[in-house]
Amino acid sequence: MLGAAKKERLHMSKRIEVNDLNVYYGDFLAVEDVSMTIEARSVTALIGPSGCGKSTFLRTLNRMHEVIPGARVQGKAVMDGQNLYADDVDPVEVRRQVGMVFQRPNPFPTMSIAENVLAGVKLNNKRISKSDANDLVESSLQAANLWNEVKDRLARPGSSLSGGQQQRLCIARAIAVRPDVLLMDEPCSALDPISTLAIEDLMSELKNDYTIVVVTHNMQQAARVSDRTAFFNIAGTGKPGRLIEMDDTSTMFSSPSQQATEDYISGRFG
Ligand SMILES: Nc1ncnc2c1ncn2[C@@H]1O[C@H](COP(=O)(O)OP(=O)(O)OP(=O)(O)O)[C@@H](O)[C@H]1O
Ligand SMILES: [Mg+2]
Repeated sequence: MLGAAKKERLHMSKRIEVNDLNVYYGDFLAVEDVSMTIEARSVTALIGPSGCGKSTFLRTLNRMHEVIPGARVQGKAVMDGQNLYADDVDPVEVRRQVGMVFQRPNPFPTMSIAENVLAGVKLNNKRISKSDANDLVESSLQAANLWNEVKDRLARPGSSLSGGQQQRLCIARAIAVRPDVLLMDEPCSALDPISTLAIEDLMSELKNDYTIVVVTHNMQQAARVSDRTAFFNIAGTGKPGRLIEMDDTSTMFSSPSQQATEDYISGRFG
């Protein structure tokens, strides 16, 4: 049973328009002048060499960047007609709408599997009944393709799962608050190939409901899972990262318009 939670569809996949975004750490301009459209119901991959600002840019999409002291953003990121950086927008609400999954699976070690799924909901001060909570745990774990593996041990600690299962648990936790967008920063880099494939399959399923943005160093992964690919590059140490080009993934990998993209994709640098 998928419960009311799944049917209600309180979330909606949303598109994000980024305009002239500059991202700073204090005086250091880390990412310069990015404009791009992130389509709803699709997977957008961010690729590029280390230090070109992929993680930095990703964190601006849910206002996680600004929690770093001195960090700031200029420009716009508009989701559904609303600039996420407008004065009257609450960053906490933005982070609920735009969820994030990190490189290393980070379940709360002292919490059970079920409590982990509900952790984000509780952080948002939502009061829910026991039966709604049970439904939400089940529907979120179903959506994260983990339910069958854990349904008989929901009270065991989240840390008792394998790495790949823990990452799916973190995805279930992110999904449980019903975000519109899921940001993933190298979600498979700590996983073995089998778990990686499980996460990639999951992304392909989740894009029916969510807007997904994924940072990856794995070119095969970008080619397999994404619909659109954005290539970032950096001219040298201390220089800002820039968006070099963005296109349909098939075009980016077969006939990119920039030489630097071709060089990176074919493994000539980075
Ligand atoms: N908290 C921070 N304070 C100051 N500078 C930072 C901070 N985090 C990142 N940077 C700098 O911003 C630039 C972009 O870093 P970022 O982590 O976004 O790159 P990346 O493309 O994600 O790299 P990688 O592929 O290695 O993860 C780098 O020059 C980095 O040193
Ligand atoms: Mg990074």
